[in-house]
Amino acid sequence: MRITTTVDGTSYTDEVEPRMLLVQYLRERLGKVGTVVGCDTSNCGACTVHLDGQSVKSCSVLAVQADGREITTIEGLADDGELHPLQQAFHDNHALQCGFCTPGMIMQALDLLKENPDPDEDEVRSGLEGNLCRCTGYQNIVKAVRAAAEQMPSAARQADVPQEPVTASMPSEVSQS
Ligand code: FES
Ligand code: FES
Repeated sequence: MRITTTVDGTSYTDEVEPRMLLVQYLRERLGKVGTVVGCDTSNCGACTVHLDGQSVKSCSVLAVQADGREITTIEGLADDGELHPLQQAFHDNHALQCGFCTPGMIMQALDLLKENPDPDEDEVRSGLEGNLCRCTGYQNIVKAVRAAAEQMPSAARQADVPQEPVTASMPSEVSQS
């Protein structure tokens, strides 16, 4: 099936199998390997991206379901080489060890802060309950999200509001070679 998506501000058109998962499409076709697979069973949240501005676990979405839609991955958050405030807060608060959960944590935290710009500790924990971390014990993740909330202007919370996409000139599997 032929799909057209906008991923991190660039438009892509590709032929995909109906069974291809969105996370496979992002990683294997577009090379967006910042989005990772921790379980493949919708449990860990490591694969979280935004679909039309809302967080989804991309291992539980088919690529064809993203047709005509806007996707933001962790790779689309930095602005001209400058880390997004949430990325910076995770760095500053030592909110990662192995880092495997971090892309999904940050994408889910961004969704949380759009809904609730000033969450307390319980609200952060509740908002991130679908994202698992095997390393940190979560304490510094909660600190990082609350620190980012203090620093983030509303524009940064809306980082994935659809913008005019840049159109890829060739199908992605060609343009990657
Ligand atoms: S890889 Fe998607 S939830 Fe674990
Ligand atoms: S930092 Fe290792 S899984 Fe979260």
